[in-house]
Amino acid sequence: SILIDGVKDRISVSPTMWGIFFEDINFAADGGIYAELIKNRSFEFDNPLMGWRILDEKNSTLKLDFDGKLLITNRGQSTQPHKGNHRYAHIELGHFFGVENEGFRGMGFKAGEPYRFTADIRVKKGSKVELQLVVLDSTGRIQFRSPFKDLPEISDNWSTVETVFSADKTLANGRLVVLLKGAGSLDMDMLSLFPVHTWKDRPGGLRADLVQKLYDLHPGFIRFPGGCIVEGRTLVNRYQWKNTVGPVAERTTITNRWQTEFKAPRNAPDYFQSYGLGFYEYFQLAEDLHAEPLPILNCGMACQYNSGEVAADLEPYIQDALDLIEFANGDSSTPYGHLRTQMGHPEPFHLKYLGVGNEQWESQYFDRYKIFESRLKLAHPEIQLVSGSGPYNSGKWFDDAWSVLRTLHPSLVDEHYYAPPEWFLNNAGRYDQYDRQGPKVFAGEYAAHGKSTTVPESANSFYSALTEAAFMTGLERNADVVRMASYAPLLANINAWQWRPDLIWFDNLHSVATPNYYVQQLFSLAKGTEVLQTSANHQPVKGQDSLYASTTMDAAGHKLYIKLVNVSSDNKPVDIVLQGLGQGLSRAMKGRWTMLKADSAYAYNSLNQPDQVQPKHMDFGTSPNPKGAVNGYELPFIKNERK
Ligand code: AHR
Repeated sequence: SILIDGVKDRISVSPTMWGIFFEDINFAADGGIYAELIKNRSFEFDNPLMGWRILDEKNSTLKLDFDGKLLITNRGQSTQPHKGNHRYAHIELGHFFGVENEGFRGMGFKAGEPYRFTADIRVKKGSKVELQLVVLDSTGRIQFRSPFKDLPEISDNWSTVETVFSADKTLANGRLVVLLKGAGSLDMDMLSLFPVHTWKDRPGGLRADLVQKLYDLHPGFIRFPGGCIVEGRTLVNRYQWKNTVGPVAERTTITNRWQTEFKAPRNAPDYFQSYGLGFYEYFQLAEDLHAEPLPILNCGMACQYNSGEVAADLEPYIQDALDLIEFANGDSSTPYGHLRTQMGHPEPFHLKYLGVGNEQWESQYFDRYKIFESRLKLAHPEIQLVSGSGPYNSGKWFDDAWSVLRTLHPSLVDEHYYAPPEWFLNNAGRYDQYDRQGPKVFAGEYAAHGKSTTVPESANSFYSALTEAAFMTGLERNADVVRMASYAPLLANINAWQWRPDLIWFDNLHSVATPNYYVQQLFSLAKGTEVLQTSANHQPVKGQDSLYASTTMDAAGHKLYIKLVNVSSDNKPVDIVLQGLGQGLSRAMKGRWTMLKADSAYAYNSLNQPDQVQPKHMDFGTSPNPKGAVNGYELPFIKNERK
């Protein structure tokens, strides 16, 4: 039997305990949660026409009298208004001119849904030009189109045109043709197409279905923007938050660090960061999710430091951190508080945590961390700093890192482990012996990497999720030490992924929650505020007889959250004995039993079959005929169903 003791050594659970880790990997941002449908909208990719195709009579099914040319022009670094965005398209047309955009592995359209096209244009005086948007399917057949619209003739100034049209059909793999009719010349830039119905219907916003899935996790925090993209493959390509705020059209597009990490088919020459999803939007997302924002900043080191890059001068990196705190929390009299206000958020974002470096270790990192710590703590003692500790590698790097980090003063140390499922089972007691006086732990990236097939989603097997659940009972049991934890990576485009497993898979129209997602959700929804001792024969339940268990209670003492994980394929009948819970739990106790099980350890949810592994709920305590009773409390004993 398992004894849950309400008296002994209760420890508190941090409200930030279960959170999410966002990185633009696997087309998670551009081509993912950032709902822009046009790829390379401002011609800033290395190859300025990547993703675009100029139409002619031979290559187009439109059967039009195409007559014109397009020249990509550089407006020069200093020219306003688009300071980070230097190129634009100059077009001359005699009759029809068309360019087709392929989207991010196609474009998704939903029948009946409105779509908003915008573009910055400058039509030469004397020209007469009309614009039409034509949507094709993957074979080039016309599916629907907007009416022609006259473009205003403006010689010197740029203006933004907008057209909203409705999709007549659902297409998973559409294309957009920007068709011009008339005679003369014009310049075009920032050609953009978004669904009107984004998350909270924000123009230029995020994909509602994906944000909803994040919302449903009730995350306590959101860590952003990565991962290795914080560091960049080289420092030139590092993530610089200041390039990601202000008007979207001025944000500088850069190569995504994951573009060439792997060989084909996982490499993605067309993987760039437009920064349409930038730091303002990340903070806004955190606010929408009621999650603490946890930005991670570059500390002067490129990815995993082995690149040998050494920052000669840390000052710009430290200044970025100080300015970020001002951007998040400063009032509008400060320069960056003013920028935030201008962007539409006069209220502060209430930043409390800041990560210094991503996944770094050894002296190059520690030397930098010390300087960051002394400067940031002096200026902002209220901000809790999160240090890195390197990637998991037989534990050695972690041990070395901890021996130094204990002499420093991060509030939290970020540990990362991607390991076989068995590692997670063997490490359910990992934090039982951690120093209670030292820095706290942020389990910032973890996932069980086990068996998979060629089907991308198969890497997220039920067994991987089960072993993570077992491990998470250990995180929860040690909630006094582990204050934050997040699975990684979060999102993956099924047609453009680099790394798996991932928590949520998606295509252009749909998304699917993995078994691992449901495990995260179960723990998050049943977080509680205090951990209660849960034992079998006076020992924590961490693998005896294939069972793992932990229990929390809510602050009012009226709710008990018992997590039981059985990693064997056998049924494990178990008695639960509640002790010392006082009056809080009355004899008229009601409950909800949520069970995640599968017929096979390697079952998984796919976009085609999203419901293979789903939590099942059963309410109990109201039934006149309970299946069992413990200590006078009525509880169900589903002896034949627990797996
Ligand atoms: O989550 C994928 C990558 O794994 C992250 O970018 C990095 O921090 C880790 O190595």
